[in-house]
Amino acid sequence: MKDFTFQNPVRVHFGQLSCDRLVEELKQYGNRVLMTYGGGSIKKIGLYDKVVNALRDAGMELYELPGIEPNPRVDSVRRGAALCKEHGIDVLLSVGGGSTLDCTKWIAASACVEHDAWDFFDYEKWSPVERALPIVDILTLSATGSEMDSGGVISNPASSDKRGRLSPLLFPKVSFLDPSLTYSVSSYQTACGSADILSHLMEVYFSTGDTMYMLDTFIEGMMRTVVRYAPVAMREPENYEARANLMWTSSWAINGLVGADKPQAWSCHPMEHELSAVYDITHGLGLAILSPRWLTYCMSDATLPKMAQFGRNVFGTSADLPVREQALSAIDALSHFLFDTLGLTSTLSALHIDDTHFASMAAKAVLPYAGNLPGFKPLTAADVEAIYRMCL
Ligand code: NZQ
Ligand code: ZN
Repeated sequence: MKDFTFQNPVRVHFGQLSCDRLVEELKQYGNRVLMTYGGGSIKKIGLYDKVVNALRDAGMELYELPGIEPNPRVDSVRRGAALCKEHGIDVLLSVGGGSTLDCTKWIAASACVEHDAWDFFDYEKWSPVERALPIVDILTLSATGSEMDSGGVISNPASSDKRGRLSPLLFPKVSFLDPSLTYSVSSYQTACGSADILSHLMEVYFSTGDTMYMLDTFIEGMMRTVVRYAPVAMREPENYEARANLMWTSSWAINGLVGADKPQAWSCHPMEHELSAVYDITHGLGLAILSPRWLTYCMSDATLPKMAQFGRNVFGTSADLPVREQALSAIDALSHFLFDTLGLTSTLSALHIDDTHFASMAAKAVLPYAGNLPGFKPLTAADVEAIYRMCL
């Protein structure tokens, strides 16, 4: 069990969105707001009009950055930073899913520097984050946990890179979490978001060192919450209880609480980011395809007991089997949940992805870790490539 410091500075308003409170929170930071959003879902659900009217009625000066893509691109960050500089923006308001919020975080940092936005992600430069504009967000999709964490992931199609980076300056100041704003999320995106939440929990749960019982128990409870409520939300999109449980779990899966005592060496995320960098696939879908294969690849005397525990405590698999059989049942139960219950595509071939880029993707996945991804089982580029092949 490692020592840790826990601090999460995000103020969360959970429940029905109050525009009065939104205006009050924004006004602490100034009057000139840049509102960022994606491809139009917020207009379809009436949220755009609601927010714009409230801000205009309150006399705020509002600018907009629409069209932020899923797997947000560095060009959107550049456009947003230019708007901030041009209009002397005081505060950013992200209205949308994790892509919009991640992009907004890096706009907040890029608005305060003269260099190009990608310099924050270029391994040679890794420009420091020394200042950032304040960020307020209204979340519309439960998945990434970006609403309560300090990270953001940005894609650069010019170099087929997708990179994440953390900075304490990029925590949102305030996050508005209204589960009813996720009623319109499609069944597919609900499934992908749920796979993402589950993966965030698995990335920290699967560690071979000593772990705190209390934190493992929290993680297992959150995993059970996803397993219980994701299918309900897919079947009944306007089930508040299901949407609320998924939303609050998405935030707590990655806000620093549950992984505090564990090595933060993630495995499926670095592998998935290369997949979406090259093929622009949905993050949660890539994680779903990778996760059971990764666990299978990690099977060893050291890792089997944790996998068996996962099966028993999350999926209720039998304890009356040798540990290896228990681990295999756990992986089967996970696959059944992801591919049968959530209905996610189970192979890369089905997405028309072949092995053309596997070697270069694997090399990139391990690059920031000096060639050895130090996770549940340390992975070299050859290991990562083998896992990609298991996904075909
Ligand atoms: O663009 P719009 O029109 O808004 O549509 C979006 C998008 O097409 C739609 N959507 C969002 N809210 C909706 C809705 N549709 C109907 N009703 C609503 N209420 O859903 C689609 C996907 O949205 P996106 O924001 O891309 O999804 P998500 O929240 O899953 O974000 C994914 C991105 O976050 C990164 C991923 O890599 C990916 O780039 N991640 C960020 C992390 C972080 N900051 O900590 C951690 C994660 O591991 C992840 O890497
Ligand atoms: Zn994720």
